[in-house]
Amino acid sequence: ETITSSRKRDHLIICCENPVEAGDAGFGDVRLVHNALPECDMDAIDTRTRFLGATLSSPLFIAAMTGGHPDTLEVNRRLARVAERYNLGMGVGSQRAALENPELEGSFTVVREEAPHAFLCANLGIIQLRDHGIEWAERAVEMIDAQAIAIHINSLQEAIQPEGDHNAEGCLAALRTLCEEFPYPVIVKETGSGISAETARAIRGAGASAIDIGGYGGTSWAKIERLRASDPRLAELGEAFLSWGIPTVVSLREVRKVGGPIIATGGLRSGIDIAKAIALGADLGGMALPLLKPAMESEDALLAAVDAIQRELEVAMFLTGSRTMRDLSNVRTYITGLTREMIETSD
Ligand code: FNR
Repeated sequence: ETITSSRKRDHLIICCENPVEAGDAGFGDVRLVHNALPECDMDAIDTRTRFLGATLSSPLFIAAMTGGHPDTLEVNRRLARVAERYNLGMGVGSQRAALENPELEGSFTVVREEAPHAFLCANLGIIQLRDHGIEWAERAVEMIDAQAIAIHINSLQEAIQPEGDHNAEGCLAALRTLCEEFPYPVIVKETGSGISAETARAIRGAGASAIDIGGYGGTSWAKIERLRASDPRLAELGEAFLSWGIPTVVSLREVRKVGGPIIATGGLRSGIDIAKAIALGADLGGMALPLLKPAMESEDALLAAVDAIQRELEVAMFLTGSRTMRDLSNVRTYITGLTREMIETSD
């Protein structure tokens, strides 16, 4: 068992048995403007969403989580079955472990087997992209016959995990080369610290097709690595960075200035949060932790969770008079509190 592989299993167990969220993504500071005369039929609401050439039935995106250890196969199977059944987009977790050791591919290939028609996103860290180049990106996409690849960035986690890579030089150049030469859309994704307007400009400038916010206020890698750290100095370092990052709502406002398709992930915890994210400029709303817990339990538990999220989204659309996702994207919002202060003091 490789270190990369066993780490994947550790992460799932830690996430299910401990509080691994930190901070506030800002959704509590956002209200959608209520429409008392919605003039639309709630049962005719259409949540279909276009994203990178695909038509998805809902903006709910199953964010990248797992794969790479035999114990993660069942979780990926359940997530994939639900993605197929509801026509949701889905990302797999980092495929590094399976690229290093092809015996571990099964926990990823199960996703395409169970979801033959779903929009699937391959996943690779930007450090692995820099070190192994386009060949690993190609293998990652082929492994699950993906429609796109997400290149994840996790500088905070690299800085505080014992096996982390501390040199981030050359990543932007590697990204530019990938975007120029790769035949699939490239999504650049943070994993809990968010993306600023300046970073978004650099990412779009490199040629990426979309940005996944991966904002602060949901799952916290500082918290996960602190729980995993056996070295007390690394645990302390994780502790010191518990409040580091750009909250998802603030990051969404920053990235929206730059343009291009956006997935909002990081601390979305209901269908109402997805509706808020769309009104703030996102195309899709991704969730990881809220789907992981039911997915670890059973397929039925996962289906129930997804049903509840979808129902909340539809009611929020009804109450804002939004028959389509386009209508929802034009709904006005009130933004208060710390989120408003951050937005107003950032320029
Ligand atoms: C993740 N996330 C993640 N992201 C990524 O790009 N590659 C990965 O391998 C993983 N692995 C992973 C494992 C687990 C157990 C969790 C909970 C999350 C990050 C994820 O896609 C998402 O961006 C963040 O978790 C924020 O969303 P939530 O969890 O707050 O909804």
